[in-house]
Amino acid sequence: MNLSCLCGIEIFYSLIFLLSVHKLNIDAVTCNESLTSDLRDDQFSASSVYSADYNASSAKFEKGGWVAGENDVYQYLQIDLKGLWEITSITTQDIADQWYWHHTQAFRIFHSKDGLIWTAYNTYLSDEILGETFNRQDKVTKIQFNPTIKTRFIVFNPVEYRWHPSMRVELYGCKRNDVASNNISTIIGTNIEYDTVWIPSQSPVIIDRHISIRPLATLTIQAGVSVIFTSSDAGIDVYGTLRVNGIEAVETIFTSSFPVTSKKEQWKGISHQPGGNISLWYAVIRQATSGIQGDSIGIHLSHSIIYACDTGMQLSGGTTSNATSEHEISDSTFTILHTRSVHNTYGIRLHGSEQRPHIYIDQSEFSFNDKHGLVIENWNDASSTDTVLHLYNSKLNDNSESGLLSSSAYTKLVLSLVIEKSCFSRNGENGLYLSRYLNEPTAIFDISYSVFEENGYNGVEYKYSCWYCDLSLNNSLRHNHFTHNKRLQIVFSFTNHDDQAVMMNFVLANNTIEKHSYNERYAVSIGANRLIGMFEIVDNTFYNLHGGFRMDAGSDSSVQVSMRNNIFENIYGKTMSVIYISNTILNFVENKITNCSVNNLINLADGLSHLINNNRLINNTVNSCIIRVGEKYSKIKSINADYNYWGTKNMSLVKACICDVFLNSSKARVLTDYVFLDPLMTSAQHIPAVDDFQITFDTDLDAYVIGGVIKSTSSLSTFESNTVIVNRSVIINYSADVHLFGITFNFTANRGLIIIGNLRLGETGNRTILQAHNVQQQWNGIHLFNEGLKTNK
Ligand SMILES: *[C@@H]1O[C@H](CO)[C@@H](O)[C@H](O)[C@H]1NC(C)=O
Ligand SMILES: *[C@@H]1O[C@H](CO)[C@@H](O)[C@H](O)[C@H]1NC(C)=O
Ligand SMILES: *[C@@H]1O[C@H](CO)[C@@H](O)[C@H](O)[C@H]1NC(C)=O
Ligand SMILES: *[C@@H]1O[C@H](CO)[C@@H](O)[C@H](O)[C@H]1NC(C)=O
Ligand SMILES: *[C@@H]1O[C@H](CO)[C@@H](O)[C@H](O)[C@H]1NC(C)=O
Ligand SMILES: *[C@@H]1O[C@H](CO)[C@@H](O)[C@H](O)[C@H]1NC(C)=O
Ligand SMILES: *[C@@H]1O[C@H](CO)[C@@H](O)[C@H](O)[C@H]1NC(C)=O
Ligand SMILES: *[C@@H]1O[C@H](CO)[C@@H](O)[C@H](O)[C@H]1NC(C)=O
Ligand SMILES: *[C@@H]1O[C@H](CO)[C@@H](O)[C@H](O)[C@H]1NC(C)=O
Ligand SMILES: *[C@@H]1O[C@H](CO)[C@@H](O)[C@H](O)[C@H]1NC(C)=O
Ligand SMILES: *[C@@H]1O[C@H](CO)[C@@H](O)[C@H](O)[C@H]1NC(C)=O
Ligand SMILES: *[C@@H]1O[C@H](CO)[C@@H](O)[C@H](O)[C@H]1NC(C)=O
Repeated sequence: MNLSCLCGIEIFYSLIFLLSVHKLNIDAVTCNESLTSDLRDDQFSASSVYSADYNASSAKFEKGGWVAGENDVYQYLQIDLKGLWEITSITTQDIADQWYWHHTQAFRIFHSKDGLIWTAYNTYLSDEILGETFNRQDKVTKIQFNPTIKTRFIVFNPVEYRWHPSMRVELYGCKRNDVASNNISTIIGTNIEYDTVWIPSQSPVIIDRHISIRPLATLTIQAGVSVIFTSSDAGIDVYGTLRVNGIEAVETIFTSSFPVTSKKEQWKGISHQPGGNISLWYAVIRQATSGIQGDSIGIHLSHSIIYACDTGMQLSGGTTSNATSEHEISDSTFTILHTRSVHNTYGIRLHGSEQRPHIYIDQSEFSFNDKHGLVIENWNDASSTDTVLHLYNSKLNDNSESGLLSSSAYTKLVLSLVIEKSCFSRNGENGLYLSRYLNEPTAIFDISYSVFEENGYNGVEYKYSCWYCDLSLNNSLRHNHFTHNKRLQIVFSFTNHDDQAVMMNFVLANNTIEKHSYNERYAVSIGANRLIGMFEIVDNTFYNLHGGFRMDAGSDSSVQVSMRNNIFENIYGKTMSVIYISNTILNFVENKITNCSVNNLINLADGLSHLINNNRLINNTVNSCIIRVGEKYSKIKSINADYNYWGTKNMSLVKACICDVFLNSSKARVLTDYVFLDPLMTSAQHIPAVDDFQITFDTDLDAYVIGGVIKSTSSLSTFESNTVIVNRSVIINYSADVHLFGITFNFTANRGLIIIGNLRLGETGNRTILQAHNVQQQWNGIHLFNEGLKTNK
């Protein structure tokens, strides 16, 4: 599946707007009268004026210009042509007196035949729901309309301006009709008591107050009807049934009469009440406080669009269906299908209820909202907000804050998210952000086949902080694509402030995690003060990242990370590792690490016992270590790193980059007795020799250097010089009995002697000296792991 196409700006609602797209059927040459100079002053009006000198009629091209008295993006200049005109082009310029550099850089155009229902110019692209923006360019900017605008009223709405919105404008066109429309409207001032149908010939239906649809009454609104709410208190409470039978390309619209259609909170909205049913097909709801709100069991939205509301939708409850796969769910189960909630403050706010019903959403979009696309939270002070959300094939893109946010404090909350084939792109903050403080017992998520890209903070952030509670988290991320998220791709941080550990089972499988460059931060980072859990990191590709995977658990943790069949490619960072593990058991098997350039490849900062087998390490560059060991030496435990391909046949080269007991005698030993010498890993070789005790002459130091494991009984006293340098620690193994005398041992930094077998030092009359090679640096001394110490002279 090509996931990237899912996230582009699709035109899946284009048909709704087809009606506003006309052919350029008028010759701009013949329909080209200049209009404004012939218009009376009272044909101009404006949302506000700065002063009498800059009133609305001063917007005529040859006058001084209109300047708005208020300072926001909803100010407008309106021209009433008193008949139906076709406008083919306009010219605009700044006000005459360049007083305080007043300047409008961009504006939108709205038009209306009746002054009630306004249409934004050029909304035929789905992301231009608020209309095309025209930029002011030259001293005089000419804009040729294609399609032309047939209208009585036209409104100019500056959206980018310096100081106050202001402009002058000339219209070009020709008259088409003396009467703009038949101006029939239906005014509704009472509740709907009986079954009622509104048909297009009654449209527009004007509502200036709050009305109710009574229980048992059904209001059916046919396709093509416009319902206009003319006061901020106006709205509909649905105790009975509201049914909108829209059809494709013939919208049924619920709107205010305010000309600038991006202005929110002009009426209350449609509110589902207990026992009521709302079903909307091909409806448009805009400019409300809350477009639709109520219990989602009684609400079904399909092929609808909600925009310019404070909250597009606010739903609680849900259905009792417990299907877990998209394919088992019937269409009638879905609360929201093929519906967009865009350019609101919040696209949709949800919470469930104690019964933990499911809310189903499919093929919908919550994008371009000023805050979050989808919010799960405890609004209305519901005693419990347990929420089960199933979200499929949906987009949560381009929101100013997060795509999906679930955040709350002080509430008991069970949250369960099933998300499939959805897109979280270009949000200002996180793609998906789950955040909790206090009392949070359970959160489960299962997110698959989804895309998290170019979010301003993280792809997925999961941040929980808990006092005296059990945090139990079963989560999975499968088959997702994380790319270009500006901070981290996936970040989990958990803090439990009492003795309890956070419990977490987590599966990260089949994801592609690529392209982020947040300096000195791991692309995937998991941290907890106290954690018990099992992490399966399987079949993923980590590509082109600043730092790979980090698990940083606090000291009382019991964590196992099992990484299998992952590819790590082009991971880089001066202080970073491909894998960083702390207080965790790592099973790292059958992975490939290639073309990485990091400080350490695998950093076992504070580990337990680990398996690192059957991996291929190819073409990597490390500053410090291929494997860095932080864990303490134990004679019975070691880190098993057998059966890997290390990218070279020269195991001395590899061993020199494994920072274990031989470089620091207090650290654990990494066993590499069996290795693959070819990248296809056909047959393993047994090469214990690299760790065996060796004596070599170093010409640079001009001395013998020693180090390694002594396995048998021997005496070391036959050097040509009587000082030898210990550049790898010496382990005296089980059953070995070693006698050292008459030699000076210079230990380099952190090297030492580990004794599991027997060591005898010195001989009568022949001193043995053990000392630091460089007096500035410490060596680690002698560690005894058997009977103990006997001293003699
Ligand atoms: C429309 O008229 C203006 C002058 O009023 C002229 O500058 C412009 O070229 C004309 N447009 C066309 C397409 O003829
Ligand atoms: C608008 O201002 C102009 C001067 O710019 C003035 O001639 C005109 O009378 C004013 N109109 C109104 C309605 O105040
Ligand atoms: C239409 O009629 C209403 C009253 O019924 C009136 O207020 C409004 O101005 C009329 N609109 C037009 C464009 O004539
Ligand atoms: C709402 O619809 C459900 C079924 O979808 C039905 O059981 C219920 O009676 C309806 N309520 C009303 C008020 O019509
Ligand atoms: C929920 O799942 C159980 C067990 O799978 C099943 O018996 C029950 O019918 C389901 N309930 C609904 C409402 O689908
Ligand atoms: C999480 O998974 C574990 C093991 O599969 C199970 O024992 C536990 O009950 C699950 N927790 C939740 C909250 O589902
Ligand atoms: C990853 O995807 C492959 C192919 O779809 C599948 O065979 C494998 O089981 C998946 N791995 C995991 C851990 O789900
Ligand atoms: C290796 O990684 C570096 C960046 O670390 C990149 O510039 C280079 O193209 C990569 N080479 C290959 C063969 O992928
Ligand atoms: C290692 O890198 C070199 C040069 O960048 C390339 O030619 C070679 O194919 C790489 N080896 C592997 C096994 O990828
Ligand atoms: C292996 O590497 C070591 C250390 O760099 C070097 O001294 C030795 O010559 C190399 N051996 C072979 C066979 O290349
Ligand atoms: C001390 O040991 C050295 C060999 O390490 C030997 O040459 C020398 O004779 C010994 N001295 C005594 C007094 O045994
Ligand atoms: C051994 O170490 C001492 C310092 O402890 C130093 O003075 C001496 O030069 C070293 N010997 C050799 C051969 O480097």
